[in-house]
Amino acid sequence: MSPLGKLSGFMHKVQIGLIGGGTVGGGVIKALKNNGRLIASRTGVELKVSAVAVKDKSRKRSVPIAKSLLTEDWREVIANDKISVIAEVMGGTTIARRVVVAALKAGKSIVTANKALLAEHGEELFELARKHGANIYYEAAVAGGIPIIKVLRESLAANRVTRLYGIVNGTCNYILSRMKDEGAAFDDVLTDAQQLGYAEAEPSLDIDGDDAWHKTALMATLTQGFWVDPKKVHLEGIRGISQLDIQFAEVLGYTVRLLGIVKAGEGKGKKALTQIGVYPALVPNDHVLAGINGVNNAILVRGDIAGDTLYYGPGAGQDATASSVVSDLIDAALDIK
Ligand code: NAP
Ligand code: HSE
Repeated sequence: MSPLGKLSGFMHKVQIGLIGGGTVGGGVIKALKNNGRLIASRTGVELKVSAVAVKDKSRKRSVPIAKSLLTEDWREVIANDKISVIAEVMGGTTIARRVVVAALKAGKSIVTANKALLAEHGEELFELARKHGANIYYEAAVAGGIPIIKVLRESLAANRVTRLYGIVNGTCNYILSRMKDEGAAFDDVLTDAQQLGYAEAEPSLDIDGDDAWHKTALMATLTQGFWVDPKKVHLEGIRGISQLDIQFAEVLGYTVRLLGIVKAGEGKGKKALTQIGVYPALVPNDHVLAGINGVNNAILVRGDIAGDTLYYGPGAGQDATASSVVSDLIDAALDIK
């Protein structure tokens, strides 16, 4: 009998192919194993992972994946007729782009956590999705477990977003908070962030600010209504921040935080230049963003109707990110249904 027992007969079953079975892919498998039944009873869809592409099948994994599901050939997963949704959770912009293009051309919707891919190739990929009648879901691409994409795209859709201030890189926030609170050394804390699964496979993407830059470009695109080229966004990371900088800031009443900032231009036409940037900023200690610690992220959004609203939660890590990926898988499955 299906693990869903009597519920199974009423269920709409959707088969999923995962491309990547690392931190995020493993989290998705774990979340579906633990909460699949609950999700099915709430939504009427049964999500089944039918294949997982990885780089090296023999690798030992923190979340075990059945050998029968594993393949080292991602094309095999996309070619599987029974699979209708592909979750790209491998990262990078070269092979990942090929994966997404191939899936969309096959009419399969994509769920992705890959902000670099969308920030750099989003315009092309969304156009391809439209052409082939597929969708791209990307809640996990910005701010891990915080549902900020839905908020910006749907919940605040009535607003003109005039300001957005975001702590959107969990690794950098974890490093900066531990440097401040414990006087810890930059390199030691970065190693911890890697071991905890927060950092990118190439951690310079975190500490040089590229990851926050991609996320900020995506949020700017969503809120300002035009495609933002990340190359036109000012970028500084936290690599150069020393213990002394943090101590000086503290004496002056500030906390150093890596912020992604979007300021909508006032006025009309060419005069209304939008400013977008990512840089380590001095945040006054009594400001809410100064109190965001550890791997947590927070995004303060100013809408012309809603006023200031704040979104807070874990910005990286296996379970938080899996929560957003699975939420997108549910949306994709419901859209198919
Ligand atoms: P990861 O732990 O390094 O996992 C990457 C997975 O992709 C691994 O399973 C790897 O296989 C597989 N892979 C690599 N090259 C492949 C290929 N050519 N064919 C098939 N599979 C391949 O990375 P992650 O932390 O899960 O991140 C994945 C994505 O999620 C990235 O875009 C990242 O930016 C994003 N993201 C991560 C987090 C986070 O907290 N970690 C949060 C939000 C978004 P092996 O296991 O065999 O090496
Ligand atoms: N490396 C990223 C971070 C993962 O630390 O925020 C979440 O996108």
